[in-house]
Amino acid sequence: MDMESVRKDFPTIRKNLGIYLDNACQSLRPDQVIQAMTDYYENYPACGGRSVHSMATKVSVGVDDCRETLASFFNTKDPECYIFTKNTTEGLNTAAFGLDLKKGDVVVTTDSEHNSNHVPWIQLRDTKGIERRFSKSGKTGEFDIESFKSCMDRKVKVVSVQQSNNVTGCSVPVKAVTEIAHDYGATVIIDGAQAAPHMPVDLSKIDADIYCCSMHKMLGPSGMGIMYGKREVLEKLHPLTYGGGTVGLTTYDSVNMAPIPDRFEAGLLNYAGIIGTKAALDYLSSVGMENIESWDTELMKRAMGNLEDVRNLHVVGPEQPSKRCGVLSFNIDGLVSHDIAMMMDSMAGIMIRSGMHCAHPFYVSRAIDGSARASTYLYNSPEEIDIFTETVRKIAETFGE
Ligand SMILES: Cc1ncc(COP(=O)(O)O)c(C=O)c1O
Repeated sequence: MDMESVRKDFPTIRKNLGIYLDNACQSLRPDQVIQAMTDYYENYPACGGRSVHSMATKVSVGVDDCRETLASFFNTKDPECYIFTKNTTEGLNTAAFGLDLKKGDVVVTTDSEHNSNHVPWIQLRDTKGIERRFSKSGKTGEFDIESFKSCMDRKVKVVSVQQSNNVTGCSVPVKAVTEIAHDYGATVIIDGAQAAPHMPVDLSKIDADIYCCSMHKMLGPSGMGIMYGKREVLEKLHPLTYGGGTVGLTTYDSVNMAPIPDRFEAGLLNYAGIIGTKAALDYLSSVGMENIESWDTELMKRAMGNLEDVRNLHVVGPEQPSKRCGVLSFNIDGLVSHDIAMMMDSMAGIMIRSGMHCAHPFYVSRAIDGSARASTYLYNSPEEIDIFTETVRKIAETFGE
């Protein structure tokens, strides 16, 4: 991968606006994405799928193109199975509340899910009486397939797991999990928020029923997400929101729902976001997801190697860089994570995240207050990693105890 030429495409890097290591939250955006969205706003800022004038037709074609690009990016055949959402959270909520779960139905997740794949199930436990089972992770957060198997029986109606964790980077073998879940007749939902930006994802191989991710973590516009579903699953799923665009014909007392994907996309869509999504996917494909995955590992190797002998520092999650999916969470004895993040910014213009990263049960169950988290992406350079690790060293050796 030609990281130097990649870096030239990102305005915030060209302008030297700091070292951005908060990619697990949102990525930076390249010129290609910004220009595609500006082009929409300047030249055809209309609505798709409704009006029949020329600007609107151009938008409709752009929306169709984006779905086709999604199908090819994730290697599935049917573009209509990709629903535009505002983020992973919306996709996971649509799946959880749309599946018609009943009292006593069991939902299995890991014990390290993001709140987006945790809170909806707690709500369904409280309102409908579903039962929840947790597949227990190892000490460093690694998925344990035996624990997962022990959760499974015929009462399990849904298995909903993250593909990669946003604190430890640990990945779940989603293909194997899907196979096991399907043997029990369960529907499989995958939270791909952290994995889809960092590795090739082949949805035809994984065979999950529903897969959700966020484009703002994949060079795309803020507030853009994708929910993929198998056609037969989407056809049975209830939408989360109803209204204009979701119906064929209504009368005063009846509604004829539109086919997929329209029935899930209520109201006017984020057309600039959809146009920008296609540009982001094209960009990622041109670099190659395999290359991005190995670059993340290279950067993690460098970071973890540099930090090996730092006093007072503790890494949260596995020691192996290849298991970290571009995420390095750590604590320094005697400091709270927000202080570490603020010092990193004021000392060296390094932007990282701090706190519990919406993974509260993971931290609470391990009696940790949170952690600082640096997360890399394709445009981060080895020099940036060295500045980051030197700053961590200074902070740990000066203020740690
Ligand atoms: C593993 C995981 N799941 C879900 C989400 C939620 O993503 P979003 O806020 O884009 O809906 C995140 C966000 O960081 C995440 O890391």
